[in-house]
Amino acid sequence: MNILDEIKKLKEEKNAVILAHNYQIPEVQDIADFVGDSLGLSQVAAKTNADVIVFCGVHFMAETASIISPNKKVLIPDPEAGCSLASTITADQLRKWKKENPDAVVVSYVNTTAEVKAESDYCCTSSNAVKVVETIPEEKEILFLPDKFLGSYTKAVTGRNIKIWDGACHVHEKIGEIDFAKKMEEYPNADFLIHPECGCSTSCMLESEVYDCDINIYSTEGMIKHIQNSDADQFVIATEVGILHRMKKIKPQSEFLPMSEDSVCEYMKMITLEKLLNALKYDQYEVKVPKDVAEKARIPINRMLEIV
Ligand code: 13P
Ligand code: SF4
Repeated sequence: MNILDEIKKLKEEKNAVILAHNYQIPEVQDIADFVGDSLGLSQVAAKTNADVIVFCGVHFMAETASIISPNKKVLIPDPEAGCSLASTITADQLRKWKKENPDAVVVSYVNTTAEVKAESDYCCTSSNAVKVVETIPEEKEILFLPDKFLGSYTKAVTGRNIKIWDGACHVHEKIGEIDFAKKMEEYPNADFLIHPECGCSTSCMLESEVYDCDINIYSTEGMIKHIQNSDADQFVIATEVGILHRMKKIKPQSEFLPMSEDSVCEYMKMITLEKLLNALKYDQYEVKVPKDVAEKARIPINRMLEIV
């Protein structure tokens, strides 16, 4: 039996569902039951009837699934698949920041550990950060963490009183070093799709007004929706390159150009078909969050899921 058939057979036997983030390698995306962004995959995890969730993504995403679905077995095929952005803040650092700003409301991007979520009032993803902030009373000061670019973008859009943690994703921060104006000159007819974690997201948003061009700031799933609805034949994509596989499948006649070929998240690429098979075969590696932490972390996650 080939590896794909073996995975499908075990999946049926164990009543498992395979979730894959948009940055996963093509083979993993192709065998998954759902491919999506952080928010979409959390929503699927919250609703699924499967007994086992195999999360092909990074650790904080599997942790979120486990917090939302405490009665399900959540597996990650490689427990070392971390996230440079989530590592920029610990629960102790957040507790200290909260002490310095006792009246502030804490909004944590979903790219955080369960312990950090447990210290937060709201979670958000790149697709609903603005909406989440807009539900908080206007007079409230907000602590936004850990991504400084998503934080600046959200602050620029909402005009709110937001203090921002100095964290960044190593993949998206580098995209900010690219000469954006030059790219726009090179591809004048392309739609530019930019992830808000990019180092250039806020300046790009402002520049789009200066250049009067089509710049769109989106979560990974927002990008997918954009290409489905756009008449453009050419798209420049500023995020991790894994998403291009899904885009090319959806619109094979269009051209998708990465803003940078080097935008590769090595953590996302740690999940392979072999590791996925072993996850199903040996029930490994189970992601468990201590009950007290999960109970506290569930509150901001559920608030996020209600604001879509
Ligand atoms: P999305 O929620 O937009 O998929 O982003 C997750 C992520 O890790 C981006 O680097
Ligand atoms: Fe984390 Fe960046 Fe990888 Fe996304 S691309 S999972 S933010 S390291």
